[in-house]
Amino acid sequence: MDVAHIREAMPVTRNMIYMNTGWSGPSPTRITRRMVEQLEWEMNRGPATLEAVARSREVSEALTRAVAGLLNAPPECIAITQNTTQGLVIVVNGLDWHPGDELVTCSLEHPAVMAPSLFLQNSHGVRVRVADLSPHDDSETILTKIEACLRPNTRLVFLSHIQYSCGLRLPAREIADLAHRRGAYLLLDGAQCAGQIVLDVEALDCDFYSIPSQKWLLGPDGAGALYLRKELIPEITPRYPASAAAEGWNRVAREVKMNEASPKKFALSTTSTALEAGMAEAIAYNQEIGGGAIEARSLELANLLKGTLRDLPGITLTCPDEPELSSGLVTFTVAGKEPSQVVETLWQQRIAGRQVPEPPGIRLCTAFFNTEDEVQRVADALDGIARG
Ligand SMILES: Cc1ncc(COP(=O)(O)O)c(C=O)c1O
Repeated sequence: MDVAHIREAMPVTRNMIYMNTGWSGPSPTRITRRMVEQLEWEMNRGPATLEAVARSREVSEALTRAVAGLLNAPPECIAITQNTTQGLVIVVNGLDWHPGDELVTCSLEHPAVMAPSLFLQNSHGVRVRVADLSPHDDSETILTKIEACLRPNTRLVFLSHIQYSCGLRLPAREIADLAHRRGAYLLLDGAQCAGQIVLDVEALDCDFYSIPSQKWLLGPDGAGALYLRKELIPEITPRYPASAAAEGWNRVAREVKMNEASPKKFALSTTSTALEAGMAEAIAYNQEIGGGAIEARSLELANLLKGTLRDLPGITLTCPDEPELSSGLVTFTVAGKEPSQVVETLWQQRIAGRQVPEPPGIRLCTAFFNTEDEVQRVADALDGIARG
């Protein structure tokens, strides 16, 4: 991978050390240009001519195929969304819940997972069981803790594939096996995965997988996608069924029929062709560099950062050690300092990171476009903060 060449086409790298890709990744020029090109095309040639409508349809179809390629899924199993959360709530709220049904999640979860789960308690009397995971658990412990939460009436296991607050990469395939043995479905939040690690929903054997464009794929805000296992699509009821959900209707008889088998039933109305083009470009960019190479480099830089931070007095890592449970999200605390204060001081030195709550700490993301030199400069800055 030619990192210097990649960085030349990524203006943010000239302005700061950007280590907040897990929140939103910086776009390379070609992704932003693709969106501008689409908007200018619409400005010059009209947004709703026959030509423009055909072009929008082509962009949507190309994005669906690109997502299918990224996830190793059939295109007819992909719904285009606006973000990860939308995909998650389509599934969580689309299932036919009954009082006494159960959902399993874990204690480290992002609000995008935890809040919709807890809302089900209020709305449907669903019992939410929370596996109490630690970032330092090994695979076996994680699986044992999750298995202990499963009951005959567990309908859904709902987890982030990579935990946002400590970078723990869950053993997703094994969790799918556990869930399926109990007759439950597995919904994975892939917010921290799409564009960071190689994904294959078939190999993971998960039932639903939701991704954003704006994080590790370096695409725009406002675009995302949801994979649904083909035979389960009819089981997920759209909670805002609109005309896109209708297979056919009869205005005279006042009847409408739902297109149960199509993921298009979750669509509402007009979407942004520019954003969809941007996400498709982001996937193409990621795949041209190579998913395997990107994954390996993020992890390599994360290991380098962890190794350096481990030696610094006052700094304690809160992320996993084991390589197969690790990711490009490095989290830690600095003795005697509030995480918000550390994030602020880093930002004064033009280092972008964030604070995280569960466990409390600071998070820095090592993406493929970061460098060994940046890792060293960040470690030096943290050493100064820890001693200060
Ligand atoms: C694990 C996880 N899930 C969901 C989200 C929310 O993503 P989106 O804004 O795409 O809905 C985030 C964002 O940080 C996340 O880290």
